[in-house]
Amino acid sequence: MENEKRIAIGSDHAGFELKEQIKKLLESEGYEVTDFGTNSSDSVDYPLIAKVLAASVAAKNPNRGILICGTGIGMSIAANKIKGIIAANCFNVETAKLARLHNNSNILTLGGRILNLETVKDIVKTWLETDFEGGRHQRRIQEIRDLEKR
Ligand code: RB5
Repeated sequence: MENEKRIAIGSDHAGFELKEQIKKLLESEGYEVTDFGTNSSDSVDYPLIAKVLAASVAAKNPNRGILICGTGIGMSIAANKIKGIIAANCFNVETAKLARLHNNSNILTLGGRILNLETVKDIVKTWLETDFEGGRHQRRIQEIRDLEKR
């Protein structure tokens, strides 16, 4: 995938603090970060944030995004409802690497109540810097695209 230095980020209240930390990290690495909120620790429904960010990533504007909620699970479920999105909830470097190599994920979801910052830094770096392997995995991605037509 086009490793452009633009990325979308979003969270609910449970991921807000981690979102702010990841945003700082990405900006210090030269990324242009589009922040879809939320902008405080006040309670907000994660599907609403997932919907707007995922729609933007599906339109390739920008072509990758990161969503954070308490577990990363709700964000991945919601984002995966948007056509063109492959959202992967990753919890270590290996899952982050494989979510790119095999799944060509365009959204990374993270659990703000589950992961520590050091692990998150490694996950984000790995996910951003790993390219899709293609080959047999491309056929499987196409099979997922076919499911979207059902
Ligand atoms: C919010 O309490 C929590 O349910 C949400 O952040 C997320 O973990 C859902 O999957």
